[in-house]
Amino acid sequence: MTVSIAFFSGTGNTRHVAEQFAREIRARNHAVHVLEIGPNVKDGPIVGDLLILCFPVHAGNAPRPVLDWIAGQRGRSGLPTAVFSVSAGGTVIPNVASRVWVKRRLAHKGYEVVSEGMIVMPSNWIIPTKPAVANALLLALPHKVAFFTQQVLAGGGHRDCPGIGHRVLSALGRVEHAGARWFGQRIEVRTHCVGCGWCASHCPTGNIRMVEQRPRFGGRCAACLRCVYGCPQNALSPGMARFVVLAGGYDLQRLLQTRTNPTERDLNRESAGVVWIGVRRYLREAGRRC
Ligand SMILES: Cc1cc2nc3c(=O)[nH]c(=O)nc-3n(C[C@H](O)[C@H](O)[C@H](O)COP(=O)(O)O)c2cc1C
Repeated sequence: MTVSIAFFSGTGNTRHVAEQFAREIRARNHAVHVLEIGPNVKDGPIVGDLLILCFPVHAGNAPRPVLDWIAGQRGRSGLPTAVFSVSAGGTVIPNVASRVWVKRRLAHKGYEVVSEGMIVMPSNWIIPTKPAVANALLLALPHKVAFFTQQVLAGGGHRDCPGIGHRVLSALGRVEHAGARWFGQRIEVRTHCVGCGWCASHCPTGNIRMVEQRPRFGGRCAACLRCVYGCPQNALSPGMARFVVLAGGYDLQRLLQTRTNPTERDLNRESAGVVWIGVRRYLREAGRRC
């Protein structure tokens, strides 16, 4: 079997999930073709016998580039497709219906969504995931991906049918698409920017160009935060919307390098509170007590 994995990622979480799927599928002797949804991707036909689509949850829905990418596809009638959303909060409000719009768009193009699921990764916005919980999530990932891979390759898995309230919330989340453009146009370039162009060459929507060694933002921002967290000089500030950015930054590679096995005590303490209900449930399902 040949499996195509398409993903969109801002700060690397979904890329890491997609790479984990690729490793798992290759280990089962199938061929894998990985494709990052970005400005340089040609809308060619999806190759293979199965498509896995992964994207981060933005305001209870998919980021705009994911929906645009599907809209630009020629479609492959009946191609079995699995959809995975990657969130910080798990299957709770507003994330419950986070795959509904993607599934609808895929169905419109003839893809047959056979399976779906949620992966939880450390948060890159507003509220940081505490270290013990972040570690537990990273340790749980291979097990979650192995479980989903087995289901998908066997032609199984499940499909959700969220209630109308969740669908409405997810639809409202599409306001984020307009908000993201607004966000991008208000990113301030601080005086210590050295004009290295890192942001322009790494923006996943091709929204930044360098003009006289200063980044200039267009109207295609997806608010993925890659430029803000990744700027080598920490010279980009989202102005009024700076509350969405974690004060300590977000660096998945550093989290992966310093990964440790958290104690149950730390995990219980750090995952307390209503915000983390979905994360606790996710970790419990993955075999962690908390
Ligand atoms: C603009 C924006 C909106 C987000 N909205 C949600 C949300 O509604 N629910 C949630 O659980 N996480 C939300 N997140 C967190 C991301 O879904 C999560 O951290 C994800 O793993 C990031 O993946 P990435 O690194 O591939 O971009 C949001 C992140 C951003 C940047």
